[in-house]
Amino acid sequence: MRRPRCGLPAISERSGTAVKGLTVASRDAMTQCCVIVPRNWPRKQLDQKYASKFEARREPSHEEYVMTKKTDADPSQPSLRPATRLVVGGRDPAANHGFVNPPVHHVSTVLYPTAEDFLARRSRYLYGRRGTPTSEALENALRELEGPACAGVALLPSGLAAISTALLALLNAGDHLLVTDSVYQPTRNFCDGVLKRYGITTTYYDPLIGTGIAALIRPNTRAVFVEAPGSLSFEMQDVPAIAAAAHAMGAVVLMDNTWASPLYFRAFDKGVDLSIQAATKYIGGHSDVMLGTVSANKATWERLSDTVHALGLCVGPDDIYLGLRGLRTLGVRLAQHYQSGLKIARWLEQRPEVARVLHPALASCPGHAIWQRDFSGASGLFSIVLKPVADTAVHAFLNELSLFGIGASWGGFESLAIPFNCASFRTATKWAPGGPTVRIHIGLEDTDDLIGDLERGFAALAAAR
Ligand SMILES: Cc1ncc(COP(=O)(O)O)c(C=O)c1O
Repeated sequence: MRRPRCGLPAISERSGTAVKGLTVASRDAMTQCCVIVPRNWPRKQLDQKYASKFEARREPSHEEYVMTKKTDADPSQPSLRPATRLVVGGRDPAANHGFVNPPVHHVSTVLYPTAEDFLARRSRYLYGRRGTPTSEALENALRELEGPACAGVALLPSGLAAISTALLALLNAGDHLLVTDSVYQPTRNFCDGVLKRYGITTTYYDPLIGTGIAALIRPNTRAVFVEAPGSLSFEMQDVPAIAAAAHAMGAVVLMDNTWASPLYFRAFDKGVDLSIQAATKYIGGHSDVMLGTVSANKATWERLSDTVHALGLCVGPDDIYLGLRGLRTLGVRLAQHYQSGLKIARWLEQRPEVARVLHPALASCPGHAIWQRDFSGASGLFSIVLKPVADTAVHAFLNELSLFGIGASWGGFESLAIPFNCASFRTATKWAPGGPTVRIHIGLEDTDDLIGDLERGFAALAAAR
């Protein structure tokens, strides 16, 4: 027997008629009801009593009961602001018995009513790997957040998987790829390793190249990869100028937009074709999930989606749910990371131990003008260049911090600080900042407590000189 749903009669699978005594919830809770039946049920099988009370219609691909409330926000409304989109996007309480959030579907097999339905694949969902109500909820929420130019969103098991899958989707053997020298190092490893083995060549370019990118584009240049700002060195790229030059020569633009997220950088409006998120960072927001997303425009979506399916990539439902849950509070968290990060960056600028603070929202940062023009906010991630001092003193500084953890990643609620040096992997530019460098992630702690921690760290640095 088909399972009863809110406010509706249960329908017997065998006879197609309503089962006596089996109904759920009151109809008053709903303003409109309908029963959607499998397309292979003859109309006469419907119990006339119920057919007169509820609208019965055939659904070509799936069977479900729907209840709708006229006042439900339409997430596709162009007027909705990003903070509202974060809350309403991808939600469909009517399809989930009225519950605010979608269920976490642990699935593999989808059952079909008949052999004919199976052979014709007549089902809303085909197979666990090919999408579920849980995965659709996050995909739809992100698509609505990205805006109308976004044709689809693919979910991947990590940020790096999102990057590698997007590149694999676009590139063929013999193609040439341009990648910013400031790129996340594992992206570089993928290009120099896997892509090279498949006959794709990569040229790294100066992140500050702007329109000069045109001179590097060859007849076989298929894609340009940007990351703004670089997540260690914080050079800001002129994405619109690079995208215009790439498009003029027939190349596609991919962007790692993890630092700003779709909230603070509208990638599609700036000419990006595929926008990538390491959702492990701010979207997850709690350092408890690995997740990646690729948002694609109309020109690239089909190829991306075909590649994801061909590779058999999918994400476990619990991880998707954590991403969706994180997304709902992204707006308030990111605003706090932005505010706290800027306060501490300004404080660090005044410290005698610090030579420079690499934070695009600071007027002293070389990329500031581009940030002001193209971004509507900043995250909590930036770097500092210390005045020359021995590595042992830098380690003493970091080891003394108790509120800042030492570890990879960022975007969670907690503060982090790590030493880094880009010199060994740069190929198109020279990394010579003039002193040791430390990357800092400002979490959601009280900024005065964080400043107190940093003060103790600087005292340890002085003692270790
Ligand atoms: C800028 C950037 N992009 C992508 C990634 C990869 O994300 P994940 O760790 O989820 O693979 C990271 C991870 O640190 C990152 O910093």
